[in-house]
Amino acid sequence: MKKRNQKLRNLLQMTFYRLKDTDNLKRIEITSAREKSTLQVDPENPRYLLAEKDRISREELREYLEQQLAGIEKATVKIIERGSVVQLKILPGDVKMEINTQDEPAQHQKTPEYGTRQDFIRAGEAEELLKAVGIMSPEGQIKADKRRKFYQVDRFIELIDEIIEEQPDKGKITILDCGCGKSYLSFVLNYWLTEKKRMPCKVIGIDDNADVIASSRKIQKQLGYHNMEFRQGKIMDFHSSSDIDMVLSLHACDTATDEALALGLHLESKYIIAVPCCQAALHQKIDFNQWKPISKHNIFHNRLADIFTDGLRAAALEAYNYRVSVVEYVSPLETPKNIMLRAIKGYNQPGARGKYQELKENISGEIPLENFLKTLDYRNND
Ligand SMILES: C[S@@+](CC[C@H](N)C(=O)[O-])C[C@H]1O[C@@H](n2cnc3c(N)ncnc32)[C@H](O)[C@@H]1O
Repeated sequence: MKKRNQKLRNLLQMTFYRLKDTDNLKRIEITSAREKSTLQVDPENPRYLLAEKDRISREELREYLEQQLAGIEKATVKIIERGSVVQLKILPGDVKMEINTQDEPAQHQKTPEYGTRQDFIRAGEAEELLKAVGIMSPEGQIKADKRRKFYQVDRFIELIDEIIEEQPDKGKITILDCGCGKSYLSFVLNYWLTEKKRMPCKVIGIDDNADVIASSRKIQKQLGYHNMEFRQGKIMDFHSSSDIDMVLSLHACDTATDEALALGLHLESKYIIAVPCCQAALHQKIDFNQWKPISKHNIFHNRLADIFTDGLRAAALEAYNYRVSVVEYVSPLETPKNIMLRAIKGYNQPGARGKYQELKENISGEIPLENFLKTLDYRNND
């Protein structure tokens, strides 16, 4: 028994050492012939666990478990964290450890034809999350009216995963979701990075709508996603004392796409990824004279203007030394707002600034993205 208890101590020490810098622990379940008990992470402070009568700090946890298990012949202890379960089988003379993770290599799909694509996030594995955010019904089905949103979020994450995979440095990443709305993207991305990729991350959502921020905070608490933060406010008023590595926006409406792009540039974010929603700001300012025979048709005018607007955004990012890829992130049948700009910092492309300046000559008046960036830079220097 003495030898067994020593082994138990070592295994607990090892397990909690691995968890010491994260808030990924969810609960601990102890099952013995005598009783079944659960230690839940305190939703108010993830550094504490709540037992029936005790509140135990992370630092006290190993000793607490050793005491609970000292005189017990046989028991099972499950240490459940986000994305994995450590199981300790305690026998009279030994302790056996088993680790189960959900790690599986990501399956990127090069040609996601509508209707043939496999979900990137496996709904069955992400049940708790998908139910909490309201994408899945309590019976475990993706809700009919949320199928489209799930597909969009799923595909968005697949495309983020592609560019993260390209990078050699996969250290901790801080992500800002601009105009996060109900935060489907933020939650599912957090799940993917933390539980499947095992990549430490912090995800911040900002939205000026108080209701969506309140509901996101409620879901965050329910899920115990301690590495998230939701702020109510304007994108342009966002401040952070620490670096932001990735700025996202998905269908951020009105001027919010340009605000998000400007903020990404201002913060010198390594990645800027946007699926624009509105392209209307430049429509009447673009000089289409050289394509008059085409642009005289209203539909062509609008489509040209949309493409020109997003093209100008991509060129602006290139002028600021980002490498930009433009993809149709979902089928146009899904949503006409299906263009994704993916930009990665640190690629100086000779001539990019000049080409951007040339493009701008087709615009009369001010360019929103530039105006927002000027405002942010000015405030910073003030
Ligand atoms: C169409 S919703 C998209 C929400 C979410 N990204 C999604 O795809 O489900 C756009 C969101 O942007 C927010 N928004 C628009 N302009 C904003 C701004 N300037 N600052 C912060 N949030 C803004 C709105 O409140 C709204 O929740």
